[in-house]
Amino acid sequence: MNPKGVFIVIEGIDGSGKTTQAKLLATKLKKSYDTVFTAEPSNGKIGKFIRSRILYSEPRPPTSVEALLFAADRIEHTNNEVLPALERGQVVVSDRYLYSSLAYQGSTGLSLNWIENINKHAVKPDLALFIDVDPETVLKRLKRKKSVMENLETQRKVREVYLGYVTNGALIRINGDQTKRAVAKEIFEKVKASLETHG
Ligand code: TYD
Repeated sequence: MNPKGVFIVIEGIDGSGKTTQAKLLATKLKKSYDTVFTAEPSNGKIGKFIRSRILYSEPRPPTSVEALLFAADRIEHTNNEVLPALERGQVVVSDRYLYSSLAYQGSTGLSLNWIENINKHAVKPDLALFIDVDPETVLKRLKRKKSVMENLETQRKVREVYLGYVTNGALIRINGDQTKRAVAKEIFEKVKASLETHG
């Protein structure tokens, strides 16, 4: 499906260090590969709307509406950034992707099948990594952030959904409860193995 480039996705609960790790990975890859760093919510119109009007505002819209907005943003993100980069043969590292919708919107009880369905046009990642951390440890690091998604119970549920996708093989688990350097090393080993299989 991604004939030229390689699409790598980094997932995790809030405060898991995934943005730091995704950026570190992209910087490291740039030494040997033409690499692009990207993120969701994206910098497109819908992504900006989600950041400014949805994530940090109360009341929240119904979860199904959120899921649809994230799915719409994902189409913009893939069409405008991911697919063109893959067609150019670049390596794409995305900070969050489809599994964030499954984990966050799915954790509220919304059908995972339905979320998968509304995202069925989203290009499949070649490698999707889940940085697994203990939600309680993480919560202590999140004091200054204001996302309404950050309470402990929510993060626990989100983690459970992510772990379900580790069990079914869609996500590869990375132990996030170690030093930044050790996490980066574990991630790089998985990525290297994946890039080697892509030739
Ligand atoms: P996050 O990666 O934390 O962005 P930033 O670090 O720039 O604030 O993402 C913001 C929030 O969006 C996060 O709490 C998870 C949520 N989110 C969803 O609920 N569903 C999705 O599909 C995506 C992509 C993100």
